Amino acid sequence: MDSVTLTDNRNGKQYTFGILHPTMGQDVIDIRPLFKQTGMFTYDPGFTSTASCSSEITYIDGGKGELRYRGYAIEDLAQNKSYLEVCYLLLNGELPTKDELIAYDMELRKRSFVHEGLKNLFYAFPDKAHPMAMMSSAVSALSAFYSEHIKMQSEEDLQVMRRRLLAKVPTLAAFAYRRSLGIPFIYPDLKRSFTENFLYMMHAYPGQDLKIPEVQVRALDTIFTLHADHEQNASTTTVRAVASTGAHPYAAISAGIDALWGRAHGGANESVIAQLEYIGSVGRVDEFIARTKDPDDEFRLMGFGHRVYKNFDPRAKILKKLLDELKDELGIDNELLEIAEKIEAVALSDDYFISRKLYPNIDFYSGLILTALKIPKEMFTIIFVIGRTVGWLAQWIEFNADPEKKIARPRQRYIGPEPREL
Ligand code: ACO
Repeated sequence: MDSVTLTDNRNGKQYTFGILHPTMGQDVIDIRPLFKQTGMFTYDPGFTSTASCSSEITYIDGGKGELRYRGYAIEDLAQNKSYLEVCYLLLNGELPTKDELIAYDMELRKRSFVHEGLKNLFYAFPDKAHPMAMMSSAVSALSAFYSEHIKMQSEEDLQVMRRRLLAKVPTLAAFAYRRSLGIPFIYPDLKRSFTENFLYMMHAYPGQDLKIPEVQVRALDTIFTLHADHEQNASTTTVRAVASTGAHPYAAISAGIDALWGRAHGGANESVIAQLEYIGSVGRVDEFIARTKDPDDEFRLMGFGHRVYKNFDPRAKILKKLLDELKDELGIDNELLEIAEKIEAVALSDDYFISRKLYPNIDFYSGLILTALKIPKEMFTIIFVIGRTVGWLAQWIEFNADPEKKIARPRQRYIGPEPREL
């Protein structure tokens, strides 16, 4: 077995650790015996050098700007497969056959209704409640309606658990939106596909047979696919950490929703549009770029930078292409688009951004498309939730099946007071 040896300079003692090889990507040093052997922990705030698990689901090469689900390139999936096919792939490891896809689609449609009692939860929120607060609460509440999922005995139980959540999340998302406007909820329409149905539940009047243009369905379906999974990001790490305590799967995913909300993570898409609106005109872009570079100013360009991607975010590239293809058909807000394009052009040629490897991420473009779909910016992170629920489910399932799983319990370097007397 390959190994590395560490030497403790204080006493010359040597410790050897095995190296584990992945199918692709970086080798990892197996430091599990570290504490037993050395009496020391590692120190790695933000887990910048830590692999927390082994996973078969998603592969990212940040240097090359590569993203793969179960081995398939994101570009191929986004171009050729529907979001539901991608869901099936992430959860089952293989793409569905035609018949499997039809059966899967039908089952999700049937499971898209939520218990009538759950509607009351939405009425308990104040008028100005952020939809993410409602969403996280509704998914957590769902665990009370399906308490049997705390202990699943069979593969069939697991299948039901994940299909239920996947199918109901768009319904809950649309309810959250409609509650924030104080307008009646629209129930799922079994005749419509997953993505079309969500747009219908968002925008239809009661009783209206609203036609959703195909171009809108295609754009949103692609956005869902691009958000479907992203290996061990902050929200997925949260889902795995909560799963490690044995909590209900929907409770773990509700915690993932909360972790996603922050603007350093999924909340960035809402902040990008807010920022573009705040900048207001192409003429003010230079002023804001200068603010970004000022070390005394906390202003950050939203939708730029990524912990893993240091060349480009492949999802951003796909969205930029989609934006170019569909901007006339979708009716993209030209003023905001021009500001965004100017920011991108200035930033990509500026040494501050080049030297720090800061490129537009997925959130930089998604908001422009979502705005054209008449989705308000408060709902952008909810769109991320709908897309990412499948990833969280796949990671939850993988975690629970992992024979090496352990409760998530990192250690610390204590720097507080030494023992003292009262
Ligand atoms: N604007 C300006 N400067 C930035 C930005 C930005 N958006 N992002 C990073 N930097 C600078 C930092 O100030 C720092 O500069 P310094 O070395 O002079 O101190 C350097 O780049 C490194 O930044 P870190 O915050 O250390 O990088 P980290 O990998 O920890 O953070 C993150 C990544 C959180 C995404 C960060 O780039 C950021 O805050 N971006 C804006 C928010 C955003 O778009 N989030 C969405 C991420 S994608 C997603 O979650 C779907």
